[in-house]
Amino acid sequence: MKPVKIGLLGLGTVGGGTVNVLKRNAEEISRRAGRAIEVSHASARDLGKARICDTTGIILTTNPAEVVDAPEVDVVVELIGGVTLAHEMVMKAIHNGKHVVTANKALIAKHGNEIFAAAQAKGVVVAFEAAVAGGIPIIKAIREGLAGNRIEWLAGIINGTGNFILTEMRDKGRDFADVLAEAQALGYAEADPTFDVEGIDAAHKLTILAAIAFGIPLQFEKAYTEGITKITREDVTYAEELGYRIKHLGVARRTEGGIELRVHPTLIPERRLIANVNGVMNAVLVKGDAVGPTLYYGAGAGAEATASAVVADIVDVVRALTADPGNRVPHLAFQPDQLSDLPILPMEEVVTAYYLRLQVEDRPGVLADITRIFGEAGISIEAVLQKEPAEGEANVSLIMLTQRVKERSMNQALAAIARLDAVTGEPIRIRMESLG
Ligand code: NDP
Ligand code: HSE
Repeated sequence: MKPVKIGLLGLGTVGGGTVNVLKRNAEEISRRAGRAIEVSHASARDLGKARICDTTGIILTTNPAEVVDAPEVDVVVELIGGVTLAHEMVMKAIHNGKHVVTANKALIAKHGNEIFAAAQAKGVVVAFEAAVAGGIPIIKAIREGLAGNRIEWLAGIINGTGNFILTEMRDKGRDFADVLAEAQALGYAEADPTFDVEGIDAAHKLTILAAIAFGIPLQFEKAYTEGITKITREDVTYAEELGYRIKHLGVARRTEGGIELRVHPTLIPERRLIANVNGVMNAVLVKGDAVGPTLYYGAGAGAEATASAVVADIVDVVRALTADPGNRVPHLAFQPDQLSDLPILPMEEVVTAYYLRLQVEDRPGVLADITRIFGEAGISIEAVLQKEPAEGEANVSLIMLTQRVKERSMNQALAAIARLDAVTGEPIRIRMESLG
């Protein structure tokens, strides 16, 4: 049988890694796929640039449309990134009746509903395993492995760059900017690294996970998004004294009122496995009603780790080439006419526990005023830690852990506390999850 021909859009970190893995493991991959697979065409912006892969034998162009339109190309692999050119090329490939593999979470989170509808109409596959958690086969695990379950919640460390930064800052006391520059040099970061550190990339991924877990449309614009830029070393230290680690977590939870969809720094008990996931590694906890909690762990970014997921998708597509489109695994796990209209909850309706750090004057009555406000708002305090003022400073840090409460009540209480004369600066809050 003729080899399946791949048209690769992008020869950067993931594109280069994909060429290398396809070449190095060609024999094993074709034994699995039932056909040989070869990259016949590829595009990049600058054909003179040094590459991490050998492009001998590949027809190269700076125009991705030429790859998508090449009649020999059976499968288009989009590894450009962004939502403009990538969107145009993916739609063009679908229009041409070609299967697509992409690692582009921004594209799927923002335009996935349109893309999957077009793919469905054309009877082609759009595969996106590499879009979430790098090399971890989390899409396949939820979509296929957990298909018998009602998923209750999932929570994950789903940005490798952010976890790498938090780990290096905590373990080695390194500067934020320094570690971010290293993550960029290692190929972990997005083209615009604010997507990593402001939580946008994690929100893209969480949007995708929630869709396949709960059978809802992709709704990125409704995700609550908060990054890691405001986490201080002080908070990391105080959290540890209290037995917690701060991780940047994406949480999607089914509740009676709708779906929680939120990305933010989170205190997690240090005894949880996920609290000990460090560096560029990602981990996703998924709780199904039948299986209970399950945990998936692996590299969340990087050339070959991501290529592992891209190549797995290529193999799946090659296996599907001969299958009746009606019998394929649905793109978003649930049959397209079976999506649910469960609402995404506004953040004010979400219930969590909190870590709070307040800067207060060290005088009698202050703690009583604060606890009175919490009492009136129905907020129970779980622990209080007072840190003596640094030499020459008048204020003390008051650290409090609260029990679970609606975000709206906490907003109101913190606004009242911030108005107290004895409280200086904005109260710091980090949400907590027991993940039990
Ligand atoms: P890179 O920036 O390393 O690669 C992008 C590639 O696209 C480059 O080869 C670039 O060409 C090419 N390209 C960009 N713009 C154009 C254009 N206008 N015309 C033609 N070619 C263009 O990105 P990554 O490989 O890191 O990421 C690719 C995708 O994979 C993104 O969607 C990203 O979110 C996703 N991803 C990345 C991971 C990672 O660890 N890096 C992990 C998981 C997903 P040139 O090389 O000449 O500049
Ligand atoms: N920039 C992303 C990350 C790449 O660091 O997780 C993997 O999706």
